[in-house]
Formats: sequence, C-alpha cells, structure tokens
Amino acid sequence: MPVITCIDDLKRLHKRRTPKMFYDYCESGSWTEQTFRENTTDFEDIRLRQRVAVDMTGRTLETEMIGQKVAMPVALAPVGLTGMQRADGEIKAAKAAEKFGVPFTLSTMSICSIEDVAEHTSRPFWFQLYTMKDQDYLKRLIQRAKDAKCSALVVTLDLQILGQRHKDLKNGLSAPPKLTAAVIADLMTKWTWGIEMLQTKRRQFGNIVGHVKGVEDTSRLGEWTAQQFDPALDWRKIEEIKALWGGPVILKGILDPEDAVMAKKVGCDAIVVSNHGGRQQDGALSSIRALDPIMQAVGDDLEVHLDSGIRSGQDVLKAIAMGAKGTYIGRAFIHGLGAQGEAGVTRALEVIRNELDISMAFTGQRDIKNVTRDSILVPEGFSGTWV
Ligand code: GLV
Repeated sequence: MPVITCIDDLKRLHKRRTPKMFYDYCESGSWTEQTFRENTTDFEDIRLRQRVAVDMTGRTLETEMIGQKVAMPVALAPVGLTGMQRADGEIKAAKAAEKFGVPFTLSTMSICSIEDVAEHTSRPFWFQLYTMKDQDYLKRLIQRAKDAKCSALVVTLDLQILGQRHKDLKNGLSAPPKLTAAVIADLMTKWTWGIEMLQTKRRQFGNIVGHVKGVEDTSRLGEWTAQQFDPALDWRKIEEIKALWGGPVILKGILDPEDAVMAKKVGCDAIVVSNHGGRQQDGALSSIRALDPIMQAVGDDLEVHLDSGIRSGQDVLKAIAMGAKGTYIGRAFIHGLGAQGEAGVTRALEVIRNELDISMAFTGQRDIKNVTRDSILVPEGFSGTWV
C-alpha cells in the first residue's frame, strides 16, 4: 500500500486508476484555466505566522457551519458525476463524511440519487440545487430533498449556462461513457474501476433519469444543462426557491461584493464565495482574493464560506483566518475517492485535518473558533486594486 501523506499522493493514484474522461472532468477549468490555476496559487501568496512558546495542548477544530456541528470547518462540495469516479461514489463519500463528522453535499448532477444516498446514510446531508426551466421537475426535486431530510439546500448561482471545458468536449464526456475505441483502450488499463462499475446499477444521472419527461439524451452534461438549466434565474426566483424549500439555504457562487449584498437582502443562512473551481468564468478572481472585499461588504452579519482552490489544511486555515466560517473541498476528496474509494475520502479528510491542526498550533492557536487574521500575513494589495 502506498503511503499517503498529502492530497497530491491521492491525485496521482486517482489519475492512474480512473478513466481519463472522468479524471479530466475533475482536473480542469474552463477555457485557458487561468482562474482554475490561480485558485490554488493565490493561496501561496498568503503566509502563516509562526508563534512560539505557546501552550499547544488541548487543541480543537470543532466548530459550526450554519449552526450545525462540524468536526472541522470543511464540508464536501457538490461535485457532478462523483459516481463515475468510482462506483457508487456519492454513497461512499457521504459515508466517509458522516463518519468523520463533516457535511456532505450531494450535487443535482450526481450519479447516485438523493434517495440512494439517504438510504445509505443515517445523518442528514446537504443537497445542491441547479435551477431548472421545468418547474414541475424543480418542485419535485426540492420535495425529494425534503423527503430525504436534507438539512440544507445549497443553491448554485454561477452555472445557469456551462463554461467550456476543452477536455470534456474532446473526451466526449458522458455518463455512462460511450464505448469508443479510445475509451475501451483506456478502460483496459483501469480494470478495478470497470469491475466495480459492472457491479452497480448506478451509472446514469440518478436525480434525472426516470424523473423527467421528454429528454432524449440525459447522458451528456453539456446537452442536459443547455436544455434544462434555467438561464433566466434571478433574485426573485431565488426567493421563490427559498420559500418552496422552507429550510436552511446556502447561496453558492458569489464572487462579487454587490452580489453578496443582494444575497444578504434576499436572506440566506450562508453564502459560498466560489468561482465553481475555476470551471465557469475564466479570468474571474480566485476565491481567496475575492474573499476580503466580500467580508467587508457583508461579513459582519452574514455567514461566509469559501470553496475553489483548497487542497490542504493550510489553505483551510488561511480562509478561516481571512474570515470564512467554513470551507468546501471538491477535487481534494474526489482524488481520494478515485484513488481508494471510501477509505480514500477518509484519508483526504484526515490529511487536511492533520495539516490544519498542526499549522493552527504553529500560529499559536488551539481553537479554530479563535483563529483570526492575526494568524496570517497577507501581502498589501492582495485583493488587488481593480478599476
Ligand atoms: C458542474 O456540474 C460542473 O461540471 O462544474
């Protein structure tokens, strides 16, 4: 067994064990991938303080996200096609998150359905909603999440239309994969993936197939989003969705202080500062650069979370020190899943917990709830002076 010491170790195994089409889907951004790259490299510009001679005993990472207890301020982000990275991927990741004590967020574009995940877990998970043109389907989807006792609705605001990811088009991304000569040649080197996949029934978009009428090909994400997602989504519609749901709402995909102010007006339990992992607006600011101006605009009275770019506990610490109350990992846990299934997701969480714990201690802090900007060094003008 390889010794896994960091997320990059899991990433290497993920690449080796998972069909190219799905690894590429995970590991890409839109167009030039500038935002995708800067999401991680911008974290490097922030430094951690090193404090000494501080009692480091009795440390804790426990805190709350939207009033729910979490073992550390890290949730699993909604990731489309997770069940294609490994058979029954959403169930495996949800189980790992539940055992670890962090929230799992199920994507609308998951392979395992809401009902599948509810059946295999014992604690409520969060459901991520894409808003659809088909109002009847949308209402039923929200009702299904309610019936499954999901404890928050995460409404994604930055994907009404899809940013172009070159590799997905070139690879002919679909779920299940179409068996072209190139795909078959690739699968020949990924036996475990194939054998596990043959043993599950869950190989299509589980929240869609069998739940919508009049759609011919539900296998291609690009076609499906173009046909079904609501390009006319606006703040009024968000209010309607909130009312339909009636429970905790997290608005995801806020990158601009003006939108953060709008989100606060509409009312929500938290916002997620996010650029969708650099998969939508290429050329947008990295999330960590966007965080500060958003904190200044709404941070005093609105819970702010952050995703996009987190690959380590040090990154989590930096985001929390900048004011976020919680963070999300997408690719980091998908690398674990693709590498080693449920155990790999647990390993990814352990790696991040360990990095967060030790790095927090080095800054002279013992309780994540007390971490403030005092733990980090932010270069002047980090968020940029843009005109
Ligand atoms: C969403 O489903 C994505 O592919 O980013």
